[in-house]
Amino acid sequence: MNKFPENFLWGASTSAYQVEGGWNMDGKEASVQDIRPPFPNTTDFKVASDHYNQFKEDVRLFKELGLKAYRFSIAWTRIMPHGKLNKQGIDFYNELINELIENDIEPIPTVFHFDLPASLHENGGWENRKTIDAFVQYCQVLFDHFGDRIKYWQTINEQNMLVFAGKVLDGDKSSWKSVFQKNHHMLVAQAKVMKIYHSGNFSGKIGPAPNIACVYPKSENPEDMLAAEYMSALRNWLFLDAAVYGVYNHMAMRILKSLDAVPIITDEDRQVMKENTADFIAFNYYNSMTVSAPETSEGKTDRGKNQQSAFSIPGFFKMENNQHLQNTVFSKWAIDPVGLRVTANQIYNRYNLPVMITENGLGQEDILTVEGKIHDDYRINYLKAHIEQMSLAIEDGVEFLGYCPWSAIDLISTHEGFRKRYGFVYVNRDDFDLKDLKRYKKDSFFWYKNVIQKNGLQNVGE
Ligand code: BG6
Repeated sequence: MNKFPENFLWGASTSAYQVEGGWNMDGKEASVQDIRPPFPNTTDFKVASDHYNQFKEDVRLFKELGLKAYRFSIAWTRIMPHGKLNKQGIDFYNELINELIENDIEPIPTVFHFDLPASLHENGGWENRKTIDAFVQYCQVLFDHFGDRIKYWQTINEQNMLVFAGKVLDGDKSSWKSVFQKNHHMLVAQAKVMKIYHSGNFSGKIGPAPNIACVYPKSENPEDMLAAEYMSALRNWLFLDAAVYGVYNHMAMRILKSLDAVPIITDEDRQVMKENTADFIAFNYYNSMTVSAPETSEGKTDRGKNQQSAFSIPGFFKMENNQHLQNTVFSKWAIDPVGLRVTANQIYNRYNLPVMITENGLGQEDILTVEGKIHDDYRINYLKAHIEQMSLAIEDGVEFLGYCPWSAIDLISTHEGFRKRYGFVYVNRDDFDLKDLKRYKKDSFFWYKNVIQKNGLQNVGE
């Protein structure tokens, strides 16, 4: 049970708006996350885990944890508030990146994680083609300032979930037509950014970071299999085919036609997508999906309830529960470690590019004991089962670069507040009481440290 390459990147993840706080400090513009009302019984993202002010202490903890990599996102709103370069934003990420490198932790940035600048949002957001140019300009600034030290860049976090669960992730409730036009602009923006990266003098790799989940047919009925293939095409391959092959997946396109959601695609768009593709694939994996063939092609289509929930498209697929799997306490997401092995193999089969898991984890309420301990064996069990399956996928032959579970430190969930915790490090605050924001190491911290030290699960003794 120890099939990990010597240089395997054992890491952990966060995203800017969920961890940083300092939402208006040092010239930062508000993002869509700062201007939307918080979900009922949750807090806003304005203070988050106060990482903006405490990042040095946090990196010290990451070092103690033994992380070889830290996957974080850069806030567009710090770097280019209202479209103007902000030196203080550059300074912050320069300091963070340098601090990581000094501590032998590979910095793995995502350039956009659900936090579009409010000024761009007010001008139509991704529906406006001008946002493509703003994104390219922003990324050029990132490459110019940090490109000398970054080996792995990720473009857009979970672009597919912005499409299917935008309501929860960035407040987007628009129609299928409009959301697939936005999606198209993101795909073009991503291709253009890969172009400027590849034409610069950089030695790193760049790739997308979608949320990929294998889709099971509910039964052996061939119609159910077809339904699973349709969902996979729409939810998964549409995004990876575009990033890796530079084309639209044909089965996904068939669904877009039936939804009257085919975007306007120019010849130049097609060319830029075709000519500029990814070097590696980062993907987030939390759970699998199960579907059956719908009895009728009539009915209401709905975008997903949240990013890990299934959804149905009449005429193509209908979401189902999987009786073989247990669900998480929050949101009832199907826990499926074997699905990770299936998903990784599917991706590698299709694209033959190295892969990296950039999110995987269990959100649960934790209890801080009077002795300052957090006994999160549920999280250890979840991660252990997924790491086991990742090692089997490596044995299958999948080329894995690294594993960055969600999350390095407690942060705010996209829509379920601070009480839904994922971190190896506990942050002492509640949804509405900021307390002292002190950091505590959870049991999972010590467990994961041991996994990293042993380069896998062998002899860890659990
Ligand atoms: C992923 C996102 O979809 O899931 C993260 O990239 C998010 O930003 C994570 O936090 C867990 O989801 P949630 O809804 O529990 O925060």
